[in-house]
Amino acid sequence: MNELNDLKLLVSQKTEVAAGILEFQFVAGDGSVLPSFQPGSHVAIATPCGANRQYSLINDGKEPTFYQIAVKLEPQSRGGSQSMHEQLNVGHSVLVQPPDNSFPLLDAPGYLLIGGGIGITPLIGMAKTCRSNGKPFRLIYCARSEGQAAYWEDLKNTFDESVVIHFDDGDPEKVYDFWDEFMIPNANHVYCCGPRPLMDEIKALSGHWPEQQIHFEDFNPQSGLEYVNLPFTVSIKSAGESFEVHETATILETLRSHGLRVPSSCESGTCGSCKMKLLSGSVEHRDFVLESEEYESAIMVCVSRGRGNIEIDFEDF
Ligand code: FES
Repeated sequence: MNELNDLKLLVSQKTEVAAGILEFQFVAGDGSVLPSFQPGSHVAIATPCGANRQYSLINDGKEPTFYQIAVKLEPQSRGGSQSMHEQLNVGHSVLVQPPDNSFPLLDAPGYLLIGGGIGITPLIGMAKTCRSNGKPFRLIYCARSEGQAAYWEDLKNTFDESVVIHFDDGDPEKVYDFWDEFMIPNANHVYCCGPRPLMDEIKALSGHWPEQQIHFEDFNPQSGLEYVNLPFTVSIKSAGESFEVHETATILETLRSHGLRVPSSCESGTCGSCKMKLLSGSVEHRDFVLESEEYESAIMVCVSRGRGNIEIDFEDF
């Protein structure tokens, strides 16, 4: 994180809003108004375990006096969500990057908002904005069960016939059938956030729609299931130092633990903040940012790894 711009905020509320999902609210120590934000925005938070994680903002972003996020305890947590659940409590201070938006609500005649599980969070502010701007929208919220669906009753009460809440009990036979929504393309924009299978399905169903009308928000780090992490050595030319990157750590985490600062935000290979120069060695590129022409000269250190030892350096060296 860029510490110069980080906001030092206090945890003012920590509330369970569904099984395994905690809502946090953060305020400035002096109660002042925080930087404003648009629907779809997120903040990056330095979690107690040291990893940065991005969370969508739920509340109204006009002159906010607090930031509201919800954090699901991920069973495959690399430490971020687990440390938020277990170690971050009311009264603690936390470093928060000012809001950023990679999922903006563009002007359109109408909207289809699709949220799966915790992916509902960026869509709540979007639905409220559509409602207050008099824009037609439909919100489809899919979850396993009532107990695992944060905010579903509020959404039902607030948006009534504009919202569909669908519970599938984790049964593939009961998943929501989106085909009717996509069969005939129209001018509406689609916003989708949720687990990867849901987003893959929406991608597949919307293949005949104009690409610019379909928007996804994906905070999921690479699952690691398709990759095997092996240890390797990373050398930083300008620092004249080399570090062992263990199986369980990223290059970014390794450099950070040795006091070397690299800009970062998403830590999932999607935002482009953590780019470094690749000087020598072979890399398994796991990001969604670099063009293939850059593979020999750059590396996103939050997710990508050396296939053997590598030498890299900061962008400005
Ligand atoms: S921190 Fe976003 S791509 Fe690495």
